[in-house]
Amino acid sequence: MKIGIIGYGSMGKMLLWKFSENAEIEKKDLLVSNRTQEKLEEVREIAQIAENRETAKEADILFVCVRPVDLMSVLEEIRDVIKPDALLVSLNGSISFESIHQIISRKTAKVIPSLTAEIGRSQTLVCYDHQVIEEDKAALNNLLKCIGDVIELPEGEMGMGSELVSCMPGFIASIFDVICSVAEGHTSIPKEQIIRMVLHTMSATGDLMIQKGMTFDEVVNRVATKGGITEAGTKVIYENFPETAEELFRKTLEKRRQTAKIRT
Ligand SMILES: NC(=O)c1ccc[n+]([C@@H]2O[C@H](COP(=O)([O-])OP(=O)(O)OC[C@H]3O[C@@H](n4cnc5c(N)ncnc54)[C@H](OP(=O)(O)O)[C@@H]3O)[C@@H](O)[C@H]2O)c1
Repeated sequence: MKIGIIGYGSMGKMLLWKFSENAEIEKKDLLVSNRTQEKLEEVREIAQIAENRETAKEADILFVCVRPVDLMSVLEEIRDVIKPDALLVSLNGSISFESIHQIISRKTAKVIPSLTAEIGRSQTLVCYDHQVIEEDKAALNNLLKCIGDVIELPEGEMGMGSELVSCMPGFIASIFDVICSVAEGHTSIPKEQIIRMVLHTMSATGDLMIQKGMTFDEVVNRVATKGGITEAGTKVIYENFPETAEELFRKTLEKRRQTAKIRT
C-alpha cells in the first residue's frame, strides 16, 4: 500500500516522520510533495520526493495537508490522476465532503490530529463519507494509531470536535500563558521558573486525573478545602471564566462557518 502526502507543513511533516518510524512502511511506499520543494531535502532518506500529481497518481491513501485556502486548487490539480479506488484524506475540519466531491468524487475521509501527535498522544478525529468501506477504515486506523488514539465522529461534529482536540493545545497554552504573566506581577520568582512550576503542575494534574480516573470536580475538592485559599481562587474561575469560554467557542465556531462558506 502506497501512502501519499501533499503539503509538508506542520501536519504533513509530523505525519510523514511518524509513518516513516513504522517498520511496516518502506521508503518506496511513502511519497511526499510540497509547494516549496527545497523543504523536502531533509526527507530524502525516508520518502520518495515527488510532484503533487505523481504523489496522487501513486497513492492508495492520499493525505492532503494544505491550508483550506490552498485545498481546492490542489484538488483541481490532481483530480484526473488520483486512483479510482484511492482513499482521499483531508486534514481540514471545516471543508465539507460535499465541497470536496464537487471536484473529486473519490472515497474521502477527514482526519484531524492534534499537535500532541508529536509525542504519540494525539486524540485524532476521523470521519468518513458514505463511500468509505470498513477495510479502508481499518487501514486508516492502523496508520493513525502511531500518533495516538483515534476517535470517529459524524461530519457535523468535526467542527466542535476540532476545537476540543486540535485547537485545544493552543487554548491551553494561551490560558496558562495569561496565568503565568499575571502571577509574575505578584512575585519575585523569575518568569522561567514560574512557567516551569505551572507547566509541570498542569501536566502532572492531567496525568493524575487520567491515571487515577479523577474528575475535575474531585481534583478541585481535594485541593480546595472549605473556606480555604484555593477555594477563594476556584470560586473566581467558576464565576468569571464561563463567560470567556462561551465567547471563545462562539468566535471559533463562527470563524469555522465562515471558512466553510468561502470554500463552497
Ligand atoms: N496545525 C495544526 O495543529 C492542525 C491540526 C489539525 C488539522 N490541521 C489542518 O491541517 C491542514 C494543514 O495545516 P498545517 O498547520 O500543516 O499548515 P502549514 O504548516 O501552513 O502547511 C501547509 C503546507 O502546504 C504546502 N502547500 C501549500 N500549497 C501547496 C500546493 N499547491 N502544493 C503542495 N503543497 C502546498 C505549504 O508549502 P510551502 O512550504 O510552500 O508553504 C506548506 O508546507 C489545514 O487544513 C489545517 O486546518 C492543522
